[in-house]
Amino acid sequence: RKRIFSGIQPTGSIHLGNYLGAIAQWVKFQEQGQDVIVSIADLHSMTVPPHDPKELSKNIQEIAATLLGCGIDPRKTILFQQSTVAVHTQLSWCLGCICTMPRLSHLPQYKEKSKDLKDIPLGLFIYPVLQAADVLAYKATHVPVGEDQVQQIQLCQDLARMFNKRFGETFPIPQTVITGSEFARLRSLRDPNKKMSKSDPDPKSRICVTDKPDDIVRNIKKAVTDFTSEVTYDPDKRPGVSNLINIHSFVTNKSVADICREAKNLDTGKYKLVVAEAVVEYLKPIQSKISNYLENPQYLVDVLEEGREKAEEIALKSWIEVEEKLGLKIKV
Ligand code: TYM
Repeated sequence: RKRIFSGIQPTGSIHLGNYLGAIAQWVKFQEQGQDVIVSIADLHSMTVPPHDPKELSKNIQEIAATLLGCGIDPRKTILFQQSTVAVHTQLSWCLGCICTMPRLSHLPQYKEKSKDLKDIPLGLFIYPVLQAADVLAYKATHVPVGEDQVQQIQLCQDLARMFNKRFGETFPIPQTVITGSEFARLRSLRDPNKKMSKSDPDPKSRICVTDKPDDIVRNIKKAVTDFTSEVTYDPDKRPGVSNLINIHSFVTNKSVADICREAKNLDTGKYKLVVAEAVVEYLKPIQSKISNYLENPQYLVDVLEEGREKAEEIALKSWIEVEEKLGLKIKV
């Protein structure tokens, strides 16, 4: 049986890249009746300074509300907070003892996130080892993520193979699951050569799931396209318009071909208004669910506590096996 595991950092608001690239896949697997575990990666979100405790606590609440609003159903999916299951950090240490420093220093996310920091926290460096522990603690077989996570999951696969080879078959090698290429790397609205990202300083570069309708319309109106006015789909030559068509296609469930046909008489300026309206409509019910959840923090606490219990039960089984294999137990 498949076991699906993924995680998301509680930093800033969830944008359409996170939603289309990752969360929508989780919900799809959940609705197929698969075994899905979703972790709010709070420990990971502490790796880049500044760490503001008030902010973190608020962000955890917000991301929990947003995930539920986006359709994660805690009766079907295990939703929990990474820091509440100690096995993640325990296993992370053990994997850190078989992982080499050069292997980590070559990872693109590390290079990118550390380049503007004067003092690089150790946590940022070992970030991918903790991520590998997240996945392996549940013996996950499938990890649905956006394209930017592929190298990190490759490290996880390598560490699982190394562990198995040295200490005996323990972990299945998890497969990366990338959604259709059009959503795996949603692009920035300001620069279609970059991905849509939480850490982009310009909020106009993204659409967040919780953005107000006016902001959504403004940001899509200002989205950078090109000098051709027709609406045609060509992700390589026309990444800006194609990105909007992808978003439009997702929120309306229409094919790219139908969208282009219907937009035949529109220029890109008018087309942007059509996209904006469709996004606003799509997000409306999600936003109203999110605000209901946010008004009830105790419910969120209860959901995460229930998730913790179920997650811990699974993770502890793996940990007992790891202790055994690593020789951490006295034989009696
Ligand atoms: P995070 O929080 O940066 O992003 C969550 C998910 O959103 C995807 N994503 C995108 N997909 C398409 N287009 C984009 N522009 C875009 N931007 C982000 C990400 O690929 C990701 O799937 N390290 C992880 C969290 C994590 C994790 C794990 C993931 C912690 N432990 C274990 C998988 C397994 C992260 O920072 O995701």
